[in-house]
Amino acid sequence: MMNYSHKMLRDDALKGKTIVVTGGGSGLGKSMATYFLELGANVVITSRNLDKLKVVQAEMEAQTGGKVLAVACDVRDYEQVEAMVKASVDKFGSVDVLLNNAAGNFISPTERLSANAFDTIIDIVLKGTKNCTLAFGKYWIDKKETQKVVLNIVTTYAWTGSAYVVPSATAKAGVLAMTRSLAVEWAKYGMRFNAIAPGPFPTKGAWDRLLPGDLKEKFDLAKKVPLKRVGDHQELANLAAYLVSDFSAYVNGEVITIDGGEWLKGAGQFNLLEDVPEEMWDMLEAMIRAKKSK
Ligand code: HXC
Ligand code: NAP
Repeated sequence: MMNYSHKMLRDDALKGKTIVVTGGGSGLGKSMATYFLELGANVVITSRNLDKLKVVQAEMEAQTGGKVLAVACDVRDYEQVEAMVKASVDKFGSVDVLLNNAAGNFISPTERLSANAFDTIIDIVLKGTKNCTLAFGKYWIDKKETQKVVLNIVTTYAWTGSAYVVPSATAKAGVLAMTRSLAVEWAKYGMRFNAIAPGPFPTKGAWDRLLPGDLKEKFDLAKKVPLKRVGDHQELANLAAYLVSDFSAYVNGEVITIDGGEWLKGAGQFNLLEDVPEEMWDMLEAMIRAKKSK
């Protein structure tokens, strides 16, 4: 029987497309890039560490039979980003999709952060997304290429905010504003902009920095999710593949949350009544009804 851990789209859903995945050598970026290859796309994976990317490139090509280009590119540096655009176009002729997935994050009380620590996260997440978006956007406009897609990875605290990850929350909120703004402004050039807000999807990069040591056991993130589990990489890859494919051609300026209901559980005022034992509800109902009859 089919379920969320299965591959959703038809095999040729991304055939002929070239997709750049920043931070594509690890975690969620790697999972999404692998699925895009399986659906027929050419993929460019980028990050700061070329040796790591080359290993992943070989692994991906062997697994999928697809074509992968690995490019070292620190998204904080506009010149490196422009060189990455050129390397991608030189290799594949054109690029159809930019997936802004690279990020930096760690937990810290904000007063412990140096100005440089705060800047580092803003620079990777907000400035990095801006750099890649601007470089590809200008390229596509200049070349009059249309039917382009930018997909940004944010988080649900882009709109709720979150203590202890303030630089990340600030930066992701900016990325979301950029997504919605450009969805309108650059639609006339044939570009679509959307975002995904994932809930907890276990990756080494995030877990080592957000749940170091025994915090993993102390704060079981699955318990915060109404569906009582963390995300499976394939279900995120399924959503991303849909959003970068032509099947989502009329979806523009949207942020899609995939978190099992996690952020709403934290938000709803009376959601804490989940802790009321089943057998108490008869008594509570009787107390409430008794008030009404007076
Ligand atoms: C306080 C810290 C710190 C910490 C670094 N700094 N770690 N301050 N607490 N734990 C400070 C440093 O002292 C320095 O400031 C500044 O931050 C920059 O640090 P560098 O190590 O020089 O930076 P860099 O080598 O560029 O590394 C960036 C990084 C690192 C963000 C610090 O963790 C990294 O490379 N991350 C990439 C991958 C990643 O973060 N993945 C997780 C994404 S998860 P000073 O003042 O000393 O110079 C995610 C999930 C969201 O986004 C939601 C999940 C549910
Ligand atoms: P990850 O594996 O650490 O991914 C981050 C990637 O970004 C790495 O490949 C890293 O590669 C790259 N990167 C970092 N700094 C960079 C820079 N300056 N230039 C270029 N690349 C850089 O973590 P992940 O969990 O898969 O995160 C992927 C995305 O999902 C992020 O946008 C994150 O905010 C988002 N997200 C994750 C979760 C979750 O539960 N995992 C939840 C919500 C949102 P190098 O270090 O080799 O450069």
